[in-house]
Amino acid sequence: MIAAPSTLRSIALEQPATIRVFESFHLDYCCGGNRPLAQACAEKGLDVDAVLAALAGSVAQQTADEDFTQATLGALIQHIVATHHAYVRSELPRLLPMAGKAAAKHGPKHPELIQIEKQLQQLADELLAHLTKEELILFPYIEALDGMKNGGSAPHACFPTVEFPIQAMVQEHEGAGALLEEMRAATRGFQPPVDTCPTVAGLYDGLDAFERDLHRHIHLENNLLFPRAIALEKEELAVK
Ligand SMILES: [Fe+2]
Ligand SMILES: [Fe+2]
Repeated sequence: MIAAPSTLRSIALEQPATIRVFESFHLDYCCGGNRPLAQACAEKGLDVDAVLAALAGSVAQQTADEDFTQATLGALIQHIVATHHAYVRSELPRLLPMAGKAAAKHGPKHPELIQIEKQLQQLADELLAHLTKEELILFPYIEALDGMKNGGSAPHACFPTVEFPIQAMVQEHEGAGALLEEMRAATRGFQPPVDTCPTVAGLYDGLDAFERDLHRHIHLENNLLFPRAIALEKEELAVK
């Protein structure tokens, strides 16, 4: 249970999910983290009960596991973009500076942090380009196929069948998943070393959540969207 007399640092170390809340209120949980939460809130003119509620919410928050098996392909794409693409675009700019700070401060003693920073940058470069390809090429094509059921015209494509870009996307998913798996292995399952600061705990918590979200995101694409898009193309365009 998170309480007002606890220090920010102890809360952040015990419940790394709370670090997002500290960041959103600009409460220093790191270098100045040895102060009780109540005192830190008073200094900033924050309502301690509101901060406590946000902290509890961050711990309890769980991703709603919605059933998209019956959704239209258009609705599924909208969900993927609004939920998972938006998450990738908001988390990477938050995690990259944390990885840089962690590598600079603790890299000499914990060289895996230097590797994490490099791999996260590679993941960001590849994944952001991947999202753009999906949003500009693949998803509009699938949405147009979906619209044919309501009288829409056949989509124009720069590929002979949707299976071509899908194969490329599936390969890129494997690359992203493998990078996170390597990061997880190098950090013993995203366990921060005991002699590091809360930034490392926050980074590892963020990477752990990022990997979980990516798994759900890839599942929706590889296992739901892509097979249905291939079947729909065959149905609507009689592609062999
Ligand atoms: Fe995606
Ligand atoms: Fe994807």
